[in-house]
Amino acid sequence: MIYSKITGTGSYLPEQILTNADLEEMVDTSDDWIRSRTGIEKRHVARNDETTCDLAEKASRAAMEAAKKNKDDIDLIIVATTTPDLIFPSTACLLQQRLGIRGCPAFDIQAVCTGFVYALHVADLFIKTGNSKCALIVGSETMTRIVDWKDRNTCVLFGDGAGAVILEESKRPGILSTHIHADGAYQELLSVPAGISSDYNLVKSDKAFIKMQGNEVFKVAVNTLGSIVDETLRSNSMSSNEIDWLVPHQANTRIISAMAKKLDMPMDRVVVTVDKHGNTSAASIPLALDVAIQDGRIKENDTLLLPAFGGGFTWGSVLLKY
Ligand code: COA
Repeated sequence: MIYSKITGTGSYLPEQILTNADLEEMVDTSDDWIRSRTGIEKRHVARNDETTCDLAEKASRAAMEAAKKNKDDIDLIIVATTTPDLIFPSTACLLQQRLGIRGCPAFDIQAVCTGFVYALHVADLFIKTGNSKCALIVGSETMTRIVDWKDRNTCVLFGDGAGAVILEESKRPGILSTHIHADGAYQELLSVPAGISSDYNLVKSDKAFIKMQGNEVFKVAVNTLGSIVDETLRSNSMSSNEIDWLVPHQANTRIISAMAKKLDMPMDRVVVTVDKHGNTSAASIPLALDVAIQDGRIKENDTLLLPAFGGGFTWGSVLLKY
């Protein structure tokens, strides 16, 4: 049996930090409101000349170094992003060029905050079917570019960053299972209602912003994340006490706590970075993973559950042995 296994992680956060106190100067909000409703204290913001690919490159180089891989070892590149540098080429192709890699397949995945889980699912299939031996999987976002800084409902929530993993062929697990889903019926609750073939004028006038009915999204997210963790445990005949670490998408501490409660997991087995990073969409899970690996909480052979939920709606999870 061939498995795919994470052999290195890396991440990058832009230097500039936006605190809740900074936001108090920009919109009618308060540090207390943001902390109590979201758990967020601060978020990182990319410079104007810093792109999603710039962040992805730094995270990728760190992951390659951690896995002791050089450019000739990488035979697949997938970038999960909602905020690509260009309409085309894909950010994955731009990243491939930056890293000096030539010839291997490289493509983006757009599943908003579930993008990294979708990317791991696809890469796992590439490896299990013998189509890749060593894949570079990245979640990278400059979400602050699609935030309306006048809309207090959304501008307090998002941040920029990137996380990357090297996923290699392995005789032992590795990824135990992946689960991905979507339901396009919820577009009205969460979207950027502008694009290339519709409302392009908004894009041209720099007004392509996130629109969200936060409290409705909240309810669907809690229920859906609850069902995806049930599905994952059921399909592996496991109980939640066999999970060492929950590394969820980082949107809101209340959503994360609700998930932990449903799993009957104490919060000290949950990796939380939303307080320091905000919601970095497809980058949030690989960022959280790298943080907890670097600080020594996640150890070799630990069992990790990575659930995610995002615009689309999309949702999914990965269960793996680190
Ligand atoms: N500061 C102060 N007040 C704010 C505010 C802010 N930044 N944003 C909204 N409010 C106000 C609202 O206007 C509303 O005021 P009103 O009662 O006078 O109308 C009040 O706070 C309550 O708004 P509501 O949206 O019901 O709050 P909430 O408890 O649901 O919290 C979110 C709002 C956005 C934090 C929460 O709904 C959430 O996290 N939703 C999920 C969002 C998400 O994760 N999206 C990405 C999915 S991957």
